[in-house]
Amino acid sequence: MISLVAILVVSVQLWPARGSHDVADHDAFGTGVRSLEVDLSVDLSRIVREVDERFLSVAIDASLVAEEKFMYMLGSPKLRTLAKALSPSYLRFGGTRQDFMVFNPEKYLMRSHGCDQQKPGSSAGPEDSCKKMELPTLLEARLKKQWIQQQALLRKEDLQMKYRRRVKFTEYSVDLLTSFANCTDMDLIFGLNALLRTSDNIWNSSNARSLIKYCESKQYRISWELGNEPNSYEKKAGVRVSGSQLGEDFVNLREILQDSKLYHNTGLYGPDISQPRDHRKDLLQGFLTTGSQAINACTWHHYYVNGREATLADFISPQVLDSLGLKISEVLESVHLVSPGMRSWLGESSSAYGGGAEGLSDAFAAGFMWLDKLGLAAKMGLDVVIRQVLIGSGTYHLVDDNLDPLPDYWLSLLYKRLVGPEVLMVERLLLAGLQNPRRKVRVYLHCANRNRGYSKGAVTLMAMNLAARPSRLTLPALLSPSTVEAFVLQSDQPNEAGLYSRSVMLNEKLLQMLDDQTLPELKGNILPPADHLSLPGFSLAFFVFTEAEAAACQ
Ligand SMILES: *[C@@H]1O[C@H](CO)[C@@H](O)[C@H](O)[C@H]1NC(C)=O
Ligand SMILES: *[C@@H]1O[C@H](CO)[C@@H](O)[C@H](O)[C@H]1NC(C)=O
Repeated sequence: MISLVAILVVSVQLWPARGSHDVADHDAFGTGVRSLEVDLSVDLSRIVREVDERFLSVAIDASLVAEEKFMYMLGSPKLRTLAKALSPSYLRFGGTRQDFMVFNPEKYLMRSHGCDQQKPGSSAGPEDSCKKMELPTLLEARLKKQWIQQQALLRKEDLQMKYRRRVKFTEYSVDLLTSFANCTDMDLIFGLNALLRTSDNIWNSSNARSLIKYCESKQYRISWELGNEPNSYEKKAGVRVSGSQLGEDFVNLREILQDSKLYHNTGLYGPDISQPRDHRKDLLQGFLTTGSQAINACTWHHYYVNGREATLADFISPQVLDSLGLKISEVLESVHLVSPGMRSWLGESSSAYGGGAEGLSDAFAAGFMWLDKLGLAAKMGLDVVIRQVLIGSGTYHLVDDNLDPLPDYWLSLLYKRLVGPEVLMVERLLLAGLQNPRRKVRVYLHCANRNRGYSKGAVTLMAMNLAARPSRLTLPALLSPSTVEAFVLQSDQPNEAGLYSRSVMLNEKLLQMLDDQTLPELKGNILPPADHLSLPGFSLAFFVFTEAEAAACQ
């Protein structure tokens, strides 16, 4: 027994490789805990990729409209404050239920709820009309309560894959949605129903045309999608649609949009398939063969794990995080084969499918998947990542049932403020070995966000530590002369239990809204130039090197 332990200890100590040996970091932690030493190398001379300035975008799940009164939650001043802070961003309205929704104009279904006093529109300026659409506090409280029950209902439907056909929505829902997008400076993408089909299994555009006509009459700025996860139409609705037919349906939609004065140049994105594999790959290629000239970007969906089976270990596993990279290469290869130069988006994406993993997808632990996805997707050349969801049923939302921000909201907000669209190269000096503990330290590098006042040449290093023990990042000579603004996110609870927490601290201070319309100031800790950085165990961090003078970021 003793000799076995000895062998294990020896083999652990053999892992460290040149330039990345374990040291006890007494300065930072005073505990003598061995920290993971990781050496970084960077290239500040050139941009590897440039992503859309709306790279981090969010979705509202179409299930919100399953009962139309819940669309009123979009009038919550708190939700609007939170959303606006994430702009510039796309706001996708879509998901499974978009293919069961029918526009039913001229019927205000909500009168019975006493919500019809504040009709939107009119001649008021945009500021006024935003104020007018705000939800009164009492009504917000009532809706939030009812929303909890509604979510249970929606989840049951999802589990059984039994969807009510032809859920009707009115002009009022469209008004609330476009008002939300407009008042938060987000660019709305509306997902149309592709399961409205003729007896020849061709998309029946009649309902979409009446919706588009209504939106045009209101001068609503919208871009469009058609259908959600068509690869599972058979399971959800007993309908099979081939990729090439779907492509032709998109061409049809593009023609309808081109006939419109307002939408003839607007965005159209698709086919929003689940992670392409097996027959889904054929569906994607068939779609692109007939439909690629109709779209502005090719969208696909990604989740790491099944929400019903996922464990905490999955959320902090380097192998699970790496699996996204394989998927991205596969999809990009497929897309480039048929449509070279076509942009590719994660059109819907989160940690775990099936509504998220209970107790994890809305907890601090989810941040590792989220930040790593943002880092990896940008580095590998995806243009936009749409987070499922800002608000909607499930547990992968960015706000909780009281519409208060969850840890991934704060992470998204920091990303928006600190990270620019230009991707730079950073590498960990690792020796091979999948079990190398240093794989638990992950890093990405961008130019700093110039729109937030960072000067030319500043860069932002994103770093995360999936291990319980701290890490010490040794900086290359190009970065060590710069002052650093450090933004370190940690759970408000220590150790592994903290990964389940729904609260997060920035530089050891709990993050909370000051009131429904005021976010706290997000302040970095100023660190003097040094040759290393300390990264606590289970932490997510942004380090802005304000004086890096990166040639690529001028
Ligand atoms: C919001 O509406 C105003 C005026 O109605 C318009 O100028 C602006 O472009 C709209 N913004 C968005 C994001 O749609
Ligand atoms: C398309 O849908 C409309 C409205 O539901 C219906 O009136 C029309 O007959 C349908 N057209 C075809 C060709 O199925």
